[in-house]
Amino acid sequence: MHNTINIREDLVWLGGSDRRITLFEGAYPLSDGMSYNSYLLTDEKKVLFDTVDKEIAGLFFENLEYALNGNKLDYVIVQHVEPDHSATLKELILRYPDVKIICSKQAVNMIRQFYGIEREMQVVKEGDTVCTGKHELTFINAPMVHWPEVIMTYDKTDKILFSADAFGSFGAFNGGITDSANDFCFADYLSEARRYYANIVGKYGPQVSAVLKKAAAIEIETICPLHGVIWQSHIKEIVDVYGKWAAYEPEKEGVVILYGSIYGNSANSADILANKLADKGVCLRVMDMSMKHPSYALAAVFEYSSFVIVSPTVDAGIFGPIDNMLNSFVSHNISSRKVAVIDNGTWAPMAGKLIKEKLSSCKDLTILEESFSIKSSLTNVQAEGELEKLAEALK
Ligand code: FEO
Repeated sequence: MHNTINIREDLVWLGGSDRRITLFEGAYPLSDGMSYNSYLLTDEKKVLFDTVDKEIAGLFFENLEYALNGNKLDYVIVQHVEPDHSATLKELILRYPDVKIICSKQAVNMIRQFYGIEREMQVVKEGDTVCTGKHELTFINAPMVHWPEVIMTYDKTDKILFSADAFGSFGAFNGGITDSANDFCFADYLSEARRYYANIVGKYGPQVSAVLKKAAAIEIETICPLHGVIWQSHIKEIVDVYGKWAAYEPEKEGVVILYGSIYGNSANSADILANKLADKGVCLRVMDMSMKHPSYALAAVFEYSSFVIVSPTVDAGIFGPIDNMLNSFVSHNISSRKVAVIDNGTWAPMAGKLIKEKLSSCKDLTILEESFSIKSSLTNVQAEGELEKLAEALK
């Protein structure tokens, strides 16, 4: 049965949750599923904002049919062609053959490539407008947030920003679909919103900053993203934190300790450092990268001002789980952080040198000269000497 919610009198949410998905995009672990949003404007013209992932196609088409209430669908605005939002586009056209696709120029080829849809599409660029009756829609280019074809749509009449993937989150809905729901807690929600941003959009900070600048010039009462809650009462908070993430500015002063350990000795060094830092009043997170997906480490590095990598040397290289994590940091352009490295090697600690080389392609990382090596296990002398100095440098 349909499950729609009116956000405004003439704006209907048609989304849904997939609580069985465990890996988003085949790469990012999900413990609480994923949500997909689509919206229908029921003005004189009926306008659909994006479709949904194929996993919730059945519900989506029931919702759409119900919300249209026998009316014809005039437009579908394809803001983002990634298949979690467009996989049901071909079926949409089969069901509603007269619907006109509105999209950016770059989206046209992508839609053809993915779905073989050859029909004529209405190409829009920044500042173009579409009048649907009472509502005037205008378009905002958002290239590389996080694909090149992305546009956002601004409903000038009701001051609603349809923001594509921006301001979205991992996670299925947990009751209400808006941030005005009674039990919504911004601080709790932020953790998966941050991990979503860091991993999906995080590489494109300058492009996100450019869109935020455009958004600052318009009055926004509601943000309708393609994933996660609809923003009504925490718009300033989410826009502000996006500004920080886009500028690679940490949310808080503190240290994330990211360690790999084979026999427990590197873990022991990480824990001793953590205790020293805690004694000095430093905010901390500690992660064993053999047990955590790199997406969690990347999110933590976006949150905190400093990070420490503790890694064994294996086959004259970096321990695998740490190496995977570093590849993710480098590919997401992590920058502007204080970094320390502790490497471990029983006969030749090499990981430290290689970690520093790998991070050298990141901008504005300050690698502390207090970084040091251990041989097999931390000694008392090192704990009171080099490790103490490192803790002082990090506090
Ligand atoms: Fe949610 Fe970039 O797709």
